[in-house]
Amino acid sequence: MSDRNDSFILEMRGISKSFPGVRALDRVSFDLRAGEIHALVGENGAGKTTLMKILGGVYPQYEGEIYLDGQSERFKNVRDSARSGIAIIYQELSLVLDMSVAENIFLGRLPHRSGFVRWNKLYKDTDELLARLNLRLDPRTVVRNLGIGQQQMIEIAKALSQRSGILVLDEPTAALTDSETETLFAILNKLRDEGVAMIYISHKLKEVFRISDRITTLRDGRVVEACDTTDTSESRVIAGMVGREVSRVFPERASAPGEVIFEARDITVRDRVLSDRVLVERVSLSVRRGEALGIAGLMGAGRSDLLMALFGAHAGRVTGEIFIEGRRARIASPADAIRHGIGFVTEDRKRYGLVMDQTILKNITLAALRRLSGRFITRREREAAAGNQVISDLRIKTPSLQSIAGSLSGGNQQKTVLAKWLLTAPRVLLLDEPTRGIDVGAKQEIYALINRLAAEGLAIILVSSELPEVVGLCDRVIVLREGRIAGEFARLEATSEKVMQCAMGG
Ligand SMILES: Nc1ncnc2c1ncn2[C@@H]1O[C@H](COP(=O)(O)OP(=O)(O)OP(=O)(O)O)[C@@H](O)[C@H]1O
Ligand SMILES: [Mg+2]
Repeated sequence: MSDRNDSFILEMRGISKSFPGVRALDRVSFDLRAGEIHALVGENGAGKTTLMKILGGVYPQYEGEIYLDGQSERFKNVRDSARSGIAIIYQELSLVLDMSVAENIFLGRLPHRSGFVRWNKLYKDTDELLARLNLRLDPRTVVRNLGIGQQQMIEIAKALSQRSGILVLDEPTAALTDSETETLFAILNKLRDEGVAMIYISHKLKEVFRISDRITTLRDGRVVEACDTTDTSESRVIAGMVGREVSRVFPERASAPGEVIFEARDITVRDRVLSDRVLVERVSLSVRRGEALGIAGLMGAGRSDLLMALFGAHAGRVTGEIFIEGRRARIASPADAIRHGIGFVTEDRKRYGLVMDQTILKNITLAALRRLSGRFITRREREAAAGNQVISDLRIKTPSLQSIAGSLSGGNQQKTVLAKWLLTAPRVLLLDEPTRGIDVGAKQEIYALINRLAAEGLAIILVSSELPEVVGLCDRVIVLREGRIAGEFARLEATSEKVMQCAMGG
């Protein structure tokens, strides 16, 4: 219970918010003290982001009260909230891809003198901020050319530049490597010492327990409990989140790989801008029917670029050959890849995964159009039936197939991307960070699904930064380092430690 002597800098009381068909928040109370990190946890769709969007002025319509330093506040828009010293880094990054790092950080606040932008000052200020984050980046770099991990750091730099008293981080480490996470934690600890109050949303409970002072657990839009981190445990928080105990995370699988179905030879990928920079160098690999091949490596090792190349998404800067069922396949575009039965679940669902303002149905049937059109039943009926099936298979939390993809919670968007590719009935499925931002319970469901697909004969290539995931799911693991294959491990010999050591060049 809230102690009346406590000086909360933020109190949210009895917050309720409904969307058509969903009560996203039901009388939620949440408070924050200066200089604390308060974690907000809960399953996908529990209401975490919605609560933060109310705090951020994104949703001005809600029930309940917000107090800042004891004063009642009602934010009508994002600007209102920012002016009160609240900075929110959302789950879906919101950078302007065609602008430079510096312009993004100081968007709307570029330093001026008599009508001209003071570029030198802008770049100098940006350099200083980046240095605080240990980021060696040119402020002039166009954001589009950065990986998603680096983009995340730019968002943090942007929030830091606003000198906010309350900083909200929604899944900040989902796309970060371990070392980037360490950097972030050092920064958060420093900010905490400076008196900044932070709200930290994450599905990574290990990190939550390391960094937070308090934890509030949400389930189905309600607060389950709020307690000091030292007074609770991981299993208690998980039980609170899912309403049951979760035991085995990686389901048992008897794997029986068949013949080689997909082979890549000497794949080399060059940088988009600097063509003498090689991102992936002469990588060869093959996958068998029913086999799950893992690709591990640090961020920047070339894992995503390799997958994109295999999917035809890096046309013009890839050399090498691809064979499908022993036959040379020309894959110069994603359309070619789809035609050859290759599916691709991406880590960056906003850019390659979903059309946010279209319905879920449209999104999941987009890639499968050809397969779903038939002669006797109308396509629409087939689509709806297939769509409803995957929604229930993957337990996507939505009132209907006609809901807009952008209205789904982050984790449910990721499941929707997966659903979309499953409907194309691929022979080879490329998965890039498929469980990013996904809660424990849903992760377990996705692992079971991957196993089931492999058992049905699909060949799977999985890229993941979560080593237990790579090691726990895959029959074989290839480690990339600086664009080249640095090692390979069979299922039985792969451990997180060995793979990590290989990835770091140890
Ligand atoms: N703009 C919207 N329109 C309709 N429904 C929405 C909208 N935003 C959120 N919802 C619904 O509200 C519920 C809570 O979603 P929210 O995004 O807050 O979940 P979350 O806890 O952040 O989940 P995740 O861990 O997956 O990010 C979900 O059922 C979601 O589908
Ligand atoms: Mg969310």
